[in-house]
Amino acid sequence: MTWHAVADLAEFDGSPVLAREAGGVSLALYRVDGVVYATQAHCTHAGVSLAGGEVVEGYIECPAHYGLFEIATGRAQGGPVCRDLATYPVRVEGSRVWVEVGTAGL
Ligand code: FES
Repeated sequence: MTWHAVADLAEFDGSPVLAREAGGVSLALYRVDGVVYATQAHCTHAGVSLAGGEVVEGYIECPAHYGLFEIATGRAQGGPVCRDLATYPVRVEGSRVWVEVGTAGL
């Protein structure tokens, strides 16, 4: 597992979800109540990017069929989604956001 610098906190201004790539993994980054979280980028239902979704009270709502996931845990909340999102460790140093993901291909 390797830590990757993926964003600056200022990038969340006006954009609650950011799409990023790190170590061969597509990520969605969220800032909720000042805390940054990372999940896999695509919905487990039909693979739509969650970066176009709506953040509502700690949940990400998929833009395709309105599936809901708890951002902090990745847990699917029913409706059309039944598989949880993968989540990744996040740390913030100064204004830089780091995410720990596995090395591509390993
Ligand atoms: S693709 Fe996300 S709910 Fe269907």
